[in-house]
Amino acid sequence: MPDKVVKVGLIGLGTVGGGVAQLLLEKQEVLSQRLGAPLLLAKAVDLDLARGRALGLPEGVCTADVNAVLDDPAIDIVVELIGGLEPARAFVLRALTAGKQVATANKALLAKHGVEIFAAAREHGVGVGFEASVAGGIPLIRSLRGGLAANRITRVLGILNGTCNYILSRMTSEGAEFGEVLRAAQDLGYAEADPTMDIAGHDTAHKLAIVAALVTGSQPELEAIPVEGITGVTPLDIRFAREFGYRIKLLAHLRNDNGAVEARVHPALVPQDHVLASVEGSFNAIHITGDWVDEVLLYGRGAGRRPTASAVVGDVVDLARDILAGCPGRVPGLGRAVADGGRLELAPINQAICQYYFRVMALDQPGVLAAVARALGEHNISIEAVTQKGRQSAGPVPVVMITHEARESDVAAALAKINALPVVAEPTVVIRRI
Ligand code: HSE
Repeated sequence: MPDKVVKVGLIGLGTVGGGVAQLLLEKQEVLSQRLGAPLLLAKAVDLDLARGRALGLPEGVCTADVNAVLDDPAIDIVVELIGGLEPARAFVLRALTAGKQVATANKALLAKHGVEIFAAAREHGVGVGFEASVAGGIPLIRSLRGGLAANRITRVLGILNGTCNYILSRMTSEGAEFGEVLRAAQDLGYAEADPTMDIAGHDTAHKLAIVAALVTGSQPELEAIPVEGITGVTPLDIRFAREFGYRIKLLAHLRNDNGAVEARVHPALVPQDHVLASVEGSFNAIHITGDWVDEVLLYGRGAGRRPTASAVVGDVVDLARDILAGCPGRVPGLGRAVADGGRLELAPINQAICQYYFRVMALDQPGVLAAVARALGEHNISIEAVTQKGRQSAGPVPVVMITHEARESDVAAALAKINALPVVAEPTVVIRRI
């Protein structure tokens, strides 16, 4: 083995950071063999020193002082696992400026400040690994940067949030209400105490912003991605969707066609025979279409201590290999040697075209379906299938339909008319189909 010892400085010993420390220690020998040089966890920073003690880290490794990592010229690779925007951004930029390689799992940081971070890495000739930031243990980033580099990626559909997929799976299998399943998921530790980022779709949007940047070479403003979460999904719609042959999944959706890029996050009807329909529980999956490779599916655990630590340590090994080969920064952040393309303009969602599921709650009277169909026809929306459930002399009944392909702006105009009809009792439920 060469004389060089690759030294890692780890910032943050929480769930994932603790896993990374444990993995680096447990597999030190095999990792060093794979690398051809010793790989050493030299420093681990956490304000709570008890965490390092609980992990059994060697004497002298634990510190509460982040400068012990950032200012130490002997540290080659900084692993940032504290999450959040600040001080994570400042730590990452300091490490890059000091010529250190960086690995991070911080999706919020990259979704918001990726342009700045990748530019800093380029300027200082170092690499940034961020495999763990999207879909946990699934090797998605290196697939997009490397294995699929020959392709123009035209479409990505992702189940990128395990909490939401777990909730929707149980609502589907048990017919249970959203709130009931969410509480069960929290009791089991699947969902965070404050699950807002997950269930409102923002966690998925962060991940989609990173995927969009890898696919196009430019990063969208996070705020420009339309996001709908799963709080409005009901067992009723799950049941009707199933009767039409669909499952409801929270999807990250990216389309990269004819120079226009669409990116959005929302619950979607997935045909039961599509591979994503059978992704159940807390698993993640990403369905990628490339112009030469055709379709690729990546599937696995998108969260959790061990799968996420596995992805982080994979990055550490890659970054260490580049150091040993004398070419840190060999792989550019977004996989393009030309300067990253700055901000990505997304196509406006009102121009998007897809099929739709509507549930109109209407009084069961003659002429109601005709009035709904007229409003749709006036906006060029044609119906593929329709069903009315039940019969009531008083109170509304669900009239459920799937449209042919329609433009989002036409759908909004038609629904404004439909919802204003005196026979329509509540706002129509709308779910897009993939
Ligand atoms: N909270 C995320 C999920 C994992 O439920 O998938 C971290 O990104």
